[in-house]
Amino acid sequence: MTNQSREELKKEMMAEVDMKNIPAHIGIIMDGNGRWAKKTGQPRIVGHHEGARRVKNIVRFCNDIGVKHLSLYAFSIENWSRPSLEVSALMRLFSTYIIKERDGLNAENVRFEFCGRRETMPPKVMEELDNIVNYLRKNTGLTLTVCINYGGRAEIVDAVKAIIQKGYKPEEITEDLISQHLYCSDILPDVDLMVRTSGEMRTSNFHIWRAAYSELYFTPALWPEFDSVEMLKAILAYQKRERRFGMTSEQVQA
Ligand code: FPP
Repeated sequence: MTNQSREELKKEMMAEVDMKNIPAHIGIIMDGNGRWAKKTGQPRIVGHHEGARRVKNIVRFCNDIGVKHLSLYAFSIENWSRPSLEVSALMRLFSTYIIKERDGLNAENVRFEFCGRRETMPPKVMEELDNIVNYLRKNTGLTLTVCINYGGRAEIVDAVKAIIQKGYKPEEITEDLISQHLYCSDILPDVDLMVRTSGEMRTSNFHIWRAAYSELYFTPALWPEFDSVEMLKAILAYQKRERRFGMTSEQVQA
């Protein structure tokens, strides 16, 4: 499909979007960089760089249509077991990419957050990410949360440890209390729509607490191919779902 017809398709799809029912928090499992690199005959790291370029377009598009939170699964706790050259290249990419995009994000009123286990992050990368969080903290548009060194189970373990350290009694433990001790608990709400690219159909330990009632959307598109048309397909699919949160259809429609 040519760029022009892709733009036309985007316009047609935009006309179908219900602007009053935009998911407030979209989480994306950005998968398929390696397969895209292989498909195009390039090293894996080129796939990750191409994936990083996608981030900019999707952040801009989501911000334009009123998404309040976009959280991206960039590096899981399990990803440390990848070849060490790939791990160090990814860590470098995260901070250099976000530093490079810092002013563009600021011009678009985007806020930035880190979500993950801070203590085992490389200190230099953590410092650079914290600087960017601070630089963009007053912005009021979309919050871009990058999940690095993140695992949903680890997040719950860390929340439980913090609760025990504060001396709470068993009868004081509630779902709200656990939610309040998750990473970025003061900022990040539950996930409304979770997207995974590359045809895999699992959620791989991403936002397991916050995604308890998420709508799931899986697409065969590889992350470096995921553009605003693909994002619109996900949003239109979301808007056709009925979110019941344990109630009956009749109750939801009443
Ligand atoms: C999964 O593809 C992707 C990752 C582990 C890294 C995601 C990182 C980026 C998109 C880079 C930029 C991100 C930011 C926030 C600047 P894979 O390597 O598992 O692909 P494969 O399954 O095809 O091998």
